[in-house]
Amino acid sequence: MGIHFCSKDKTFHLQAKDTSYVVEIVRDGYLVHNYWGRKIRKYSHSNFLQSLDRGFSGNPYQHKEDRTFSLDTLPQEYPQYGNTDFRKPAYQIQLENGSTVTDLKYRSHIIFKGKAPLEGLPATYVESEDEAETLEITMEDSLIGLKVILSYTVFEQFNVITRSARFVNEGEESLKLLSALSMSVDFRDADFEFLHLHGAHVKERHIERQPLRHGIQLVESTRGASSHQHNPFIALLRKGTTEDTGEIYAFNFVYSGNFLAQAEVDQFSNTRVTMGINPFDFSWKLEAGEVFQTPEVVMVYSAEGLGDMSRTFHELYRTRLVRGSYRDQERPILVNNWEATYFDFNAEKILEIANAGSELGIELFVLDDGWFGKRDNDKSSLGDWFIDRQKLPEGLDNLASKVKDMGMEFGLWFEPEMVSVDSDLYREHPDWCLHVPKRLRSESRNQLILDLSREDVCEEITKQVCDILANVPISYVKWDMNRHMTEIGSAALPADRQRETAHRYMLGLYKVMETITTSFPHILFESCSGGGGRFDPGMLFYMPQVWTSDNTDAISRLKIQYGTSLVYPIVTMGAHVSAVPNHQVHRSTSMEMRGNVAMSGNLGYELDLTKITGEEKEIVKQQVAHYKEIRKLIQFGDFYRLQSPFEGNETAWLFTTKDKSEAIVYYFRVLAEPAAPTTVLKLKGIDVTKQYQVIGTDYVFGGDELSYVGLSIPANIHGDFQSYVWHLKS
Ligand code: DGJ
Repeated sequence: MGIHFCSKDKTFHLQAKDTSYVVEIVRDGYLVHNYWGRKIRKYSHSNFLQSLDRGFSGNPYQHKEDRTFSLDTLPQEYPQYGNTDFRKPAYQIQLENGSTVTDLKYRSHIIFKGKAPLEGLPATYVESEDEAETLEITMEDSLIGLKVILSYTVFEQFNVITRSARFVNEGEESLKLLSALSMSVDFRDADFEFLHLHGAHVKERHIERQPLRHGIQLVESTRGASSHQHNPFIALLRKGTTEDTGEIYAFNFVYSGNFLAQAEVDQFSNTRVTMGINPFDFSWKLEAGEVFQTPEVVMVYSAEGLGDMSRTFHELYRTRLVRGSYRDQERPILVNNWEATYFDFNAEKILEIANAGSELGIELFVLDDGWFGKRDNDKSSLGDWFIDRQKLPEGLDNLASKVKDMGMEFGLWFEPEMVSVDSDLYREHPDWCLHVPKRLRSESRNQLILDLSREDVCEEITKQVCDILANVPISYVKWDMNRHMTEIGSAALPADRQRETAHRYMLGLYKVMETITTSFPHILFESCSGGGGRFDPGMLFYMPQVWTSDNTDAISRLKIQYGTSLVYPIVTMGAHVSAVPNHQVHRSTSMEMRGNVAMSGNLGYELDLTKITGEEKEIVKQQVAHYKEIRKLIQFGDFYRLQSPFEGNETAWLFTTKDKSEAIVYYFRVLAEPAAPTTVLKLKGIDVTKQYQVIGTDYVFGGDELSYVGLSIPANIHGDFQSYVWHLKS
């Protein structure tokens, strides 16, 4: 492991666990990408660049005598615009004279142990310097005094390279960043499939995969949030890549706002992948002496298919992205009142639900939306974070204490980034929301977005939330965010900085979250944005779990949770059992089916527990007791996908402990089919040399038999929406 610089051939060889990445300085300082893939011992230019005179690919001025040298044909590390490369650049800058051409050349580099934090931004981290090594390459455009520092970190224990870029204006004029992406890498072929996670509200992170074609293929967000619609994740897969075989290059953006993730296949069938803050409606004025830091991209290489890629992301994010005391703690089983009551509740009703929960062994009660201001529907009160005495006459403190007396923890919902037009806050500060002068303000769910690019607004919402957290015995916070940005502008920024608003908002939000989460380290924070609209690594840096989707239907959840598991650890996924018919899709499934899907994540309940039958209560009680036994395995074990809901009627997945002494297998079948083939499920991730007992039976099978021969799905599970579970111990 490590980063080696060979001064003779000006080559950087970055080695992570089993992967190598090679960068070379050519000519008068251009940075060329030579290799990324399986680890090699030493790089000696076996794939040396071929010099060809390609028509219409011009030559930079200093090399005009050499018609074979063009940036248009060079595989680069951080390409620029304006001097012979006609593909999309990694950044673009406008000077005071209006021109947009820059020319970065290598100036120096440093290599150091460990990894430096990114100021004001979420990022992966190390706990000891030996875990990683970092290379910082300083590129310079000496004409204008611009420096761009490209940062690369390799991890000892992971097939991971993280990248970001830092712009420093050492010139005398101000510069305008028109785009500033975090990374770019040029592959020398296009023999890939493009995989991404698309979706919608209540339908997040569905897997889509198609061959790369010439031209540009991209996913992005322009919504001011990473979004339900596209996750900030793409992967290039070698054709034929499966769960267990094949090469993958995966990219995930550690950011929660507008992003761009794109692959461009050029005329010579090279592929350029870039990722970063979406340049659409973005610019950033960099005055002399100022610095702009881009967010981080996590790049994972796998030679062993999608399963291995996911386990790399899971382990890295669980241990070196998520922070705080809950990182390594088992997460409580909760009951949330949202789908039980919506806005229509009083203290008595809440205590009845909490009491029913505590009798079933549930550990945490969460009071959702509707406890503040005059919030009887979604038309008012966001911003007025004081208790509604009509609903809760004895106050929050009293309610929380009563819940605690039942032996449960108390959690509370907030939506601190928003303001209702019908609120005292908005009446007092109508300029505190994102808006554009003289334009009407579009509403969504009857709400506007507070302008977190402003320090005064950030300070006020931090104070309001902290006041409540300091005075009520709260152990959990659900941090919601329920609309996307329109009329993006700030009353506090000058005209030439208006396009900075969306990114400044993210910086403000991250600061608020940093202050609040570190001030209350005993509180478990769960982020939410209409379910999984901000399920991204940026949020996970501050809040260790996410409400995966507002869709709680067990069948819809198979795809949502399977797609989410591609990148994000199981322990980060909130998954609740809700009432039937389901409130989003009106489907009815059994309590067992709902329980087994929810137990494949961070288990919770979101229904009126006072209204379920005695028989159902008994099932819930058993589920809760069972989950307490297996949750360590689910939340901190290794996850293996066995059958994909995107490929058929059946879904299956498996969790195993690190030492492979225990595993749990979940099988789900959506529809009963006539003359269906009998299914045998081959297991993965278990130890082929161990003997496993199927808990609750006398069956003992070899790990080899379970893996190579497989387990028969019992034929006696009848009807639609069925599930089956095997719990194995060696
Ligand atoms: C959207 C969330 O995703 C729901 O779980 C719930 O908290 C509502 N907001 C409350 O308004």
